[in-house]
Amino acid sequence: MNDDLAEKIKELKKKKSAIIVAHNYQRPEIQDIADFTGDSLELSRKCVNVNEKIIVFCGVKFMAETAKILSPEKKVLLPKENAGCQLADCITPEEIDEYRKKYPGAAIVGYVNTTAETKAKLDYCVTSANAVDIVKKIPEKRIVFLPDKNLGLWVKKNIKDEKEIILHNGRCYVHHKFTKEDIMNAKNAHPDAKIVVHPECLPEVTELADKVASTSGMIKYVKEEKAKKFIIGTEEGHIYRLKKERPDAEFYSLGNAQICFNMKLTKLEDVYESLKKEQYEIKLSEEIINKAKLPIERMLGL
Ligand code: 13P
Ligand code: SF4
Repeated sequence: MNDDLAEKIKELKKKKSAIIVAHNYQRPEIQDIADFTGDSLELSRKCVNVNEKIIVFCGVKFMAETAKILSPEKKVLLPKENAGCQLADCITPEEIDEYRKKYPGAAIVGYVNTTAETKAKLDYCVTSANAVDIVKKIPEKRIVFLPDKNLGLWVKKNIKDEKEIILHNGRCYVHHKFTKEDIMNAKNAHPDAKIVVHPECLPEVTELADKVASTSGMIKYVKEEKAKKFIIGTEEGHIYRLKKERPDAEFYSLGNAQICFNMKLTKLEDVYESLKKEQYEIKLSEEIINKAKLPIERMLGL
């Protein structure tokens, strides 16, 4: 059944000259039919460099919007219209105006996990892969970092006292569930394993991990590390990708496997329908695209 559908998707994709990209948290069968799989930054960059005019984005809405902002001439489709991100939705453009008033002269730095309307109000955009480096390079000494508090605390820890960082109180409900006890238990159960976690995890979790990285950073780490066992503190779908990259190694979820429900909404049927009906197209006004492009371009420039 899945094989038939995968075959039909392949044919239709060719006929329409489309490309399918998928985030590392997508279901295995979606990762398998994708032309490219990656983290949020890699996926948007990839979309800029392809010749195809239709992009089927298997992920969540803010990621598809970022692809549209960077490639406005392309048709970007999100197979599930309601695939959102609670973290991205926890900050509004109005709140950014308030931060600007409260902290005049501060640089407003926003995680890529924000809506297009919020991005249009930012000075700089960052991703989990480059947040520390970008914040270090920003000339302003005072920074408002939003919306993810844990990622902000990770940045703060890594840039030491170089800058003043004001944090918004957002969080990813998936990563926030990993605990210090999960790490202690994992260390006891698998003393020879390396513990790798996402910077959206709580500080007491990142502090005890062997490596803190974005999903693409995790791939790089497990490919370079000699260890044969890894404990992974991120959305469980990423383990499928990691196993592909290191088939000789064993991977375990940190604590209970955590699932991002929005990331799991997209099924093969949805990808097929998306290609067939060219739905659901990401539509953004020219004004939002032009404004939201600036913080992303500043990030890419740095
Ligand atoms: P990455 O950019 O590390 O893939 O993370 C995206 C995300 O949504 C994390 O929860
Ligand atoms: Fe958003 Fe968290 Fe899901 Fe990532 S894992 S898409 S940050 S809710």
